[in-house]
Amino acid sequence: MAENTIYVLGLETSCDETAAAIVKMPIDEGHVVGPGRILANQILSQIETHAPYGGVVPELAARAHLSHLDRLIAAAFDEAELQLSDMHAIAATAGPGLIGGVLIGLTTGKALALAADKTFIGINHLEGHALSARLTENIDFPYLLLLVSGGHCQLLSVNGLDDYTLLGQTRDDAVGEAFDKAAKLMSLGYPGGPQIEQRARHGNRSAHKLPRPLLNDRQAGLDFSFSGLKTALRQAAEKAAPLDDEKVADLAASFEAAIGDCLVTQTGAAMRGFRRDKVLQNRRGRLVVAGGVAANDYLRSRLSAAAQDENFDLFVPPPALCTDNAAMIARAGGERFAAGLIDPQPMAVAARARWPLNI
Ligand code: KG4
Ligand code: ZN
Repeated sequence: MAENTIYVLGLETSCDETAAAIVKMPIDEGHVVGPGRILANQILSQIETHAPYGGVVPELAARAHLSHLDRLIAAAFDEAELQLSDMHAIAATAGPGLIGGVLIGLTTGKALALAADKTFIGINHLEGHALSARLTENIDFPYLLLLVSGGHCQLLSVNGLDDYTLLGQTRDDAVGEAFDKAAKLMSLGYPGGPQIEQRARHGNRSAHKLPRPLLNDRQAGLDFSFSGLKTALRQAAEKAAPLDDEKVADLAASFEAAIGDCLVTQTGAAMRGFRRDKVLQNRRGRLVVAGGVAANDYLRSRLSAAAQDENFDLFVPPPALCTDNAAMIARAGGERFAAGLIDPQPMAVAARARWPLNI
């Protein structure tokens, strides 16, 4: 094995995906060079476990992680045709997330590291998302990140490894959560995002006048809010009842358009601020959109148009790397390992339900 190549096992158990991945990364002078290669990417979605409840049930999630993680790790080693002894480091999500699940991945990672005498690295799940686009593309720092998932909605300036500035975030629901709740109130399935997107394709985006929360609020900065939008959708749905396919399509399309306006307006302002802060002048900026909601074609095309208007290149990781996965955790571990950014007492790294990225 060449000295300048590292192999990292990543584990992810913070929400409703149980995942283990192995990533190979070339390093040079304390940096990972280029995307490297994902040698194994095992993901078990718990969607079916949680679907009857319309959302993730923490206790069920933790039990499922415990039942499946060992098998997925073994499958990852098989897929990569490597062994634990080949790894340079083991990285596991240490938070933020559902604490029972986080504890399972974190403890498993520590145990493997201890048994095989490897470096252990506790990773912030948000850092994994922040760096996920670097798994497939040569994207240099700095870049602007819009993270839109079931648990998060935030705009971050990714200045460098371990150097993130939170520019704005949701004050209530995450975007994916808003999609899930909107789908639930129209009796569509879980997860709600893909259901709403599919219904919205046949609907009229201006059928219902729904609010665009915070967009005209000067105090809001780059923050988001979606709970008022959800309430307005509920009222519109009640008024339109009984719902048929056409009415559902119009409600879904109007809802998606409102979300699109919120994301595009705040991300547009963030791109202009980023251009000023980084003194980009006429050079092209970089915008990365990550998280499960980035799988939405309508929102992606609106963000793509906004990026074009602002002279930014848009990068969206492939769907399997947009949603929760362990390759992004291995990548973050590899970047930290290469740079020597490792906790001095890795076995004491605690599981954290809350863990903002910029602290
Ligand atoms: O990143 P992710 O897999 O998990 C979290 O870290 O939360 O994101 C899952 C979220 C769910 O709320 C789901 O409804 C949403 O992403 N989502 C979508 C789409 N596909 C998934 N939202 C809108 N449109 C989609 N096509
Ligand atoms: Zn996530």
